[in-house]
Amino acid sequence: MNNVTKTIIITGGAGFIGSHLVRLFVNKYPNYRIINLDKLTYAGNLANLKDIENANNYEFVKADIVDADSLFAIFDKYQPDGVIHLAAESHVDRSIANPNEFIFTNIVGTANLLNAARKTWGENMEGKRFYHVSTDEVYGSLGETGFFKETTAYDPRSPYSASKASSDHLVRAYGHTFGLPSVISNCSNNYGSYQFPEKLIPLFINNIKNNKALPVYGKGENIRDWLWVEDHARAIDKIYHEGKNGDTYNIGGHNEWTNIDLIRLMCKIMDSKLGRNKGESEKLITYVKDRAGHDLRYAIDSTKLQNELGWTPSLQFEEGLEKTIEWYLENEEWMKNVTSGDYQSYYEEQYINR
Ligand code: NAD
Ligand code: DAU
Repeated sequence: MNNVTKTIIITGGAGFIGSHLVRLFVNKYPNYRIINLDKLTYAGNLANLKDIENANNYEFVKADIVDADSLFAIFDKYQPDGVIHLAAESHVDRSIANPNEFIFTNIVGTANLLNAARKTWGENMEGKRFYHVSTDEVYGSLGETGFFKETTAYDPRSPYSASKASSDHLVRAYGHTFGLPSVISNCSNNYGSYQFPEKLIPLFINNIKNNKALPVYGKGENIRDWLWVEDHARAIDKIYHEGKNGDTYNIGGHNEWTNIDLIRLMCKIMDSKLGRNKGESEKLITYVKDRAGHDLRYAIDSTKLQNELGWTPSLQFEEGLEKTIEWYLENEEWMKNVTSGDYQSYYEEQYINR
């Protein structure tokens, strides 16, 4: 391609948030060369990017971030100006069942990327940027009041959040020690299209549609702060371009829901979309054994991002949830493909006899 102004490697671009970010960058920045580096684990799916796969500023590279040698070769070939790092093992329940995968990908993988960026950029780091996409879960769990701020002390409590916290520390350490130009954001729960149906919202949409039990952990009283995935992608765009090196930005929608209230709302919307009697889908609610170490409440204070960079969420939750439900109902084929194969054994291990 001609007139390339920047080459950016986006890791994890075939996953849920990564695919929305790749799409945004490919469409919005025709002069950027966007390299999607992804291992294509169970959570990575190139079908998420069908609409832009032939764009001339887009390229897919299959690679494992745990494999340092292949990362060095890729960085050497593409000479990226920027890295936006989303590749991770991302599901808390899987981290409880199998922590090691999280330690390799999230910690060792991030260290490998930092080393590859350092080696490629050498002393000349002007205009370069390493952007690490992280989670609010690194801050631990809130009681009934208060919010996570950028200054909140880290207190991760699951193998997933501990691995993400470790990776955040590594990014900050490379910034401080080696002067690597880096920035981190910590976001709350995302929802929207192309999310793998191991996570609450797509899992429950799929189960409601198929008249399967809705496994609510514990009493359903845990609270999450939900943000539309495209608003997260817009925030990453702002922070990548305008954020300060060495800084952290919290991203969230000021949109807290107890799980049970959210599930009831989903049931109500689904009743109406599927032409069911009022209250019919709610009958599928089944209380099951709680998640081990289940964090009670997450809530993000995103004032810094709003005041310094002028970002605000664009979508009201009820509208976003309805749009999301419609998307999954209209994209049956996508759901069928991702729930075939290994998904069935994952589901059985996670939920049968829970
Ligand atoms: P996801 O599980 O949907 O996608 C992860 C992607 O990373 C997949 O495409 C997968 O193939 C790829 N990947 C996994 N291991 C890899 C490896 N070793 N090498 C290369 N690629 C690999 O995840 P997501 O929900 O889109 O989350 C993306 C990032 O955002 C993660 O870092 C996560 O911690 C963070 N995050 C997620 C949320 C959320 O609500 N989903 C909120 C805040 C932050
Ligand atoms: O807060 C950001 C984090 O949000 C991200 O860093 C993670 O990658 C992402 O997976 C998400 O973590 P959660 O654990 O909050 O999301 P999950 O969809 O797994 O669960 C949301 C809530 O619903 C949580 O309180 C557990 C509950 N739950 C979940 C599932 C899958 C149930 O009650 N039943 C279920 O079957």
